[in-house]
Amino acid sequence: MPSFEPVLMKGIGEADLRDISVYRQRGGYRQLERAFKELTPAQMLDIAKASGLRGRGGAGFPTGTKWGFLPGSDAPRYLVCNCDEAEPGTFKDRMLLEETPHLVLEGILIGAYAIGCRHAFIYIRGEFKRGYEIMRAAVEQARAAGFVGRNLFGTGYDLEFTIHRGAGAYICGEETALLNSLEGKRGEPRLKPPFPATQGLYNMPTVVNNVETLAYLVPILERGAEWFASVGSEKSKGFKVVSVSGHVRKPGNYEVAMGTPVREIIDLAGGAREGRKIVAVQPGGGSSACIFEEHLDWGYDYESMQKAGSMLGSGAIVVFDDTTDFVAAAHSLVRFFAHESCGQCTPCREGGHWLELTLERLVHDRGVPGDVEILEKASHQMTGLNLCPLGDSIEPFLVSVVKRFPEQFEERVLRFDGAKRG
Ligand SMILES: Cc1cc2nc3c(=O)[nH]c(=O)nc-3n(C[C@H](O)[C@H](O)[C@H](O)COP(=O)(O)O)c2cc1C
Ligand code: SF4
Repeated sequence: MPSFEPVLMKGIGEADLRDISVYRQRGGYRQLERAFKELTPAQMLDIAKASGLRGRGGAGFPTGTKWGFLPGSDAPRYLVCNCDEAEPGTFKDRMLLEETPHLVLEGILIGAYAIGCRHAFIYIRGEFKRGYEIMRAAVEQARAAGFVGRNLFGTGYDLEFTIHRGAGAYICGEETALLNSLEGKRGEPRLKPPFPATQGLYNMPTVVNNVETLAYLVPILERGAEWFASVGSEKSKGFKVVSVSGHVRKPGNYEVAMGTPVREIIDLAGGAREGRKIVAVQPGGGSSACIFEEHLDWGYDYESMQKAGSMLGSGAIVVFDDTTDFVAAAHSLVRFFAHESCGQCTPCREGGHWLELTLERLVHDRGVPGDVEILEKASHQMTGLNLCPLGDSIEPFLVSVVKRFPEQFEERVLRFDGAKRG
């Protein structure tokens, strides 16, 4: 069990936190009131920076620094909470949305105040119908209580809030595709620069932050930036909600201190199945390279996962044991990325499809000589040449498992070649 009290997950499963009166009894919305009545946006920015909070949506960019990129003009600016969550293996934002919507909303409203935003948005993945309904109800409750709308806490500050439900495209999680989609355009990534901080939603300065990132603002205000910064490793501060799935006994979300060894997190999820051995782990969702047995005692933080050849990403640990067919796993993941390509960039559009076809041959034992080399070469050639990181998402997992388990891939070529099979 974790050696500390859960932070964001506190109270989940014990009380109905969707009910604003329950949430308020437990101290909910007090930090929002404090922010409005006692703190200036500049102080909020200092708190975010001092806490060391980094974005929990995938890239791990320091939150305070991102807010600091906004120009100092009086132009309208927007905060958009990214709840598109479609990275394979990631399901933490959905849980936060469905189980503790007021915490998410309070975090968004605090973030909005911190950047001087008068209209905040949440973009919810199309498939999250339940979460969407729950958030709608939460916003109505919060509006009735005076936390959304006009003249908040008698300060004269007006803050509107819009909930937008996506149409079910993974690419709309990428922040500029999300902004296009929010504007009613095709959900395609924009060329950067300009970055959203200067030209984002409706061409205005915009911050896009993940659900978990914004939710952590509430405990950070409550317990102080120093408290948050005192937990974790040197450059990865605080806590992380980790989605653990795959070959474990108790898949689910587990909140841990940054730097907790990967093995301990897997143990929280019940560890390996009876009689089985873990042979590979994706530490950062579908886009991440596998780490292996020799890395399981490494700390789960941004730097260690990078050093191990992978990334922490959105915080999804996918566990593979010794029963895994890595050709089938690679096929399934590549098919996903190929399907989700928006098609703007040739390497991503054509390369993904090409790799999918190659893996399809291998999965059906119909691989031809050269196929395994194609997997490595083509996925590498796709990388770094695209508008957005989706096109770079195929190589890490694919190459990591081809390199680690080459026999599984080679075997599927040999099976086709009757002469070699003997
Ligand atoms: C293909 C793709 C999908 C993404 N999906 C999500 C997502 O579902 N949720 C999310 O918060 N960030 C996602 N991101 C990252 C966002 O572009 C952005 O970096 C993030 O929302 C910023 O918030 P943060 O700084 O709080 O992490 C995705 C990025 C890419 C390239
Ligand atoms: S990399 Fe792929 S998903 Fe991203 S913009 Fe290019 S084609 Fe679209």
